[in-house]
This record gives sequence, structure tokens and C-alpha cells, in this order.
Amino acid sequence: MNIAKTPVWDLPVRLFHWALVALVGFSWWSGEQGEMWLKYHFWSGYAILTLVIFRVLWGFWGSHYARFKQFLRGPQTVFKTLPELFSPAAMPVLGHNPVAGWMVLALLVVLLVQTATGLFANDDIMWEGPLYPLVSKALSDRLTGIHEFNFGVLGGLVGIHIAAILWHRLRKGERLVSAMLSGYQAHLPAVPVPAWVSRWRALVLLLCAALIVFGILNLRAPL
Ligand code: HEM
Repeated sequence: MNIAKTPVWDLPVRLFHWALVALVGFSWWSGEQGEMWLKYHFWSGYAILTLVIFRVLWGFWGSHYARFKQFLRGPQTVFKTLPELFSPAAMPVLGHNPVAGWMVLALLVVLLVQTATGLFANDDIMWEGPLYPLVSKALSDRLTGIHEFNFGVLGGLVGIHIAAILWHRLRKGERLVSAMLSGYQAHLPAVPVPAWVSRWRALVLLLCAALIVFGILNLRAPL
């Protein structure tokens, strides 16, 4: 029987994912460098916030496998799938499996906390997030602490995320990274799946996300 190549990850999801990986890496690096690099750290954070807001919107109005209602399942389904994840014989799941679905949500929430707290953070020397003037110094210090702690949480989740992908590759032979690059997932038997939605819709939603971030950044200047 031929293994079918099924369209799963549309271009917006793939671009979102690999841009996010690059930006999170750059944000970490520029944050470590400090000083003048913090300016680019800020810009990278605004870009991540835009991407995450876009991904939330795409979770409601995007293609079938990008939608939250497709991959966020109740606890019963999650627990029922757990043994299958550890069984090399189990059939691959199209899209995010029920456990991975909640991991996606966790990653998005942690990225939102990371970027939101960064907006109010300060480094006690010369850099302050754009919304620093809206809060007291004490609150900014607490949010800076959360920004630093949460980066560890993000690192932990990313570690689990990559370990899970390696597990799928080595124990189950699933090429999830190829799917996130090409958009097509190998699946047997072939199943009919809805077509990807228009890329124009993605562009409009990306613009909406950018406008939301622009609005947030200008909160400090009262109208
Ligand atoms: C900063 C590091 C990373 C972050 C924040 C991250 C975040 C995410 C997010 C949010 C998704 C869900 C995609 C969506 O539905 O829109 C995802 C999926 C995925 N990521 Fe990553 N990722 C990271 C690194 C990586 C790396 C290094 C790889 C490759 C080794 C990778 C491979 C994948 C794959 C294959 C999927 C699809 C998983 C599935 O089939 O359920 N990710 N990632």
C-alpha cells in the first residue's frame, strides 16, 4: 500500500514556527550580550509577541490542522492516547496528537508571559521596557524576575518538545521535522483532509496582530 503524503501544516504555520525558533534563539543571545544588544532584544520580543498573537488568531480562523478545536482534546482523550505515544506500533496521528496539542498551548502561553513581562522589565542600569512607565519600580522588578524565571520554564518546555520529536523519529520512525518543513505528513491509509485556507487571510491576521502590538507599545502615551 502506498503511503499518502497528506497536507497538514500550511505555509503560515511553518513560517510561524521557524521564525519563532530563530527569534527565540536570537532573543536569548541578545539578552545574554546585554548593553547595546538589548535594543535588538526588544525588537525581537515585539516580533515574537506579534507571531504569538497571529498564531492565536490562526488557531480560530486558520486551516483545519492549525485550529485549536482540532487539536485541543479533553482529559479522557489525552489519557487514552498516552500508551499509544509509547508504542512503536501505533499509527501516526495527523496534526498534533492530543498530548502535543496541550504542549502547543503551553508554549504559546509561556511565550506570551515572556513577552508581556519583558514590556515592563528593567535592568537597573539603562534599559527599561516600553511599558515600564505604567508601573512602579517594585512591580517592574517583580515582572523582571518573572521574565527571567519564565525563560527557564520556556527552555524546559522546548527541551521536552525536542525530546518528543526525537522520540517520534527514533522509536516510531515518524519524520515530524520534515512535515514541519514541507507541510506534508506521511500517513497510512490516505484520508481526505480539508484544503489549506487562503494565505491572504493569514496576511490580514498578521497585520491585525502587528496592529495590536503597535497599540500595546503606544499604551504609554496617553491620547
Ligand atoms: C525555540 C524553540 C522552539 C519553540 C518555541 C517551538 C514551538 C513550537 C510550537 C508553538 C509548535 C506548534 C506549531 C503550530 O501548531 O503552530 C511547534 C511544533 C513543532 N515543532 Fe517546535 N519549537 C521550537 C523548536 C523546535 C525545533 C528545534 C524543532 C526541530 C528539531 C521543532 C520541531 C517542531 C515540530 C516537528 C512541530 C510539529 C509537532 C507535531 O507534529 O505535533 N521545534 N513548535
